[in-house]
Amino acid sequence: MTSSVPPGTTTPAVPVPAAAAAAAAGPATAPSPALTVDKIGGRIGATVSGVRLGGDLDAGTVAVIRAAILEHKVVFFRDQHHLDADGHEAFARLLGTPVAHPTVPSVDGRYALGIDNDHGGRANQWHTDVTFVPAYPAFSVLRAEVIPPYGGDTLWANTAAAYARLPEPLRVLADGLRGEHTNAYDYAAVRPGAPSDELRQHREVFTATEFRTEHPVVRVHPETGERTLVLGTFLQRLSGLSGADSRALTAVLQSHIERPENTVRWRWRAGDVAIWDNRATQHYGVDDSDDHVRTLRRVTIDGDVPVGVDGRRSVLLAPESVPEPRHGIASGASTDGVAALV
Ligand SMILES: [Fe+2]
Repeated sequence: MTSSVPPGTTTPAVPVPAAAAAAAAGPATAPSPALTVDKIGGRIGATVSGVRLGGDLDAGTVAVIRAAILEHKVVFFRDQHHLDADGHEAFARLLGTPVAHPTVPSVDGRYALGIDNDHGGRANQWHTDVTFVPAYPAFSVLRAEVIPPYGGDTLWANTAAAYARLPEPLRVLADGLRGEHTNAYDYAAVRPGAPSDELRQHREVFTATEFRTEHPVVRVHPETGERTLVLGTFLQRLSGLSGADSRALTAVLQSHIERPENTVRWRWRAGDVAIWDNRATQHYGVDDSDDHVRTLRRVTIDGDVPVGVDGRRSVLLAPESVPEPRHGIASGASTDGVAALV
């Protein structure tokens, strides 16, 4: 990787070492001198300014952005109003290969997933995107189109910081655990007030193919070498434990992820773009904007199969192999039926 940030370190003073990242990217690709990275909190989050996102960014600028994501876990860009679906995807491709959601149709026939609260897209549970498949996304690039007059913030939590600050006995315990993740989680239990048509749509669309994957609870990040916790709503059970033990132990570990010091909360404006390292974060969409429309578009970048601290990789338990995305990348299907957590 090209980041100048050593793994596991705390974040340096701002601005981020743009020159170092640019130098790693090549001699003729210096980023704009206007590019700055400013931390929001001590453990997670930074704003990046002085850059116009698009598919035509020079390699030096992309290297700085990538380094900022890896270091700060989630970064925010204001006023990217010029981005449309094509520009969004073209920029995302500079970070890797886009992947379609396994079961939920895109909104544009390509890779953009709709996060629309008027279609049940209320992600008010802590989760990491798509952990029910082995090689879940490395990055998510989320673009705000319509933002309600109040509410609808998103929170992110740093799962590397949470792990690093676990008491030693819990770290040792977590290192040896594995957990089963599924998209066929108990949606009705998670959203007890959900209307029946939402429950039906969830079953028909989101769980059209039921995935089960066993991940290590602690994975070694392939780019930074940090250890991160792999939990969240898609986790159904810790392997080898009873349901009661699994729930109790998961709650203890999850409580460390959700500590306010490990989180950042973003108040969206239309034109914002947030990019997060999906391998080192969980996020939570706050469902408090009543009936106001909230429309965001997400492009996810392919990840790799997690490896635990013991070297064991994640294992797909069902189906026998990960099928092509159910709707393909060119389905052009509507967003009706988009489920709560994607
Ligand atoms: Fe999500």
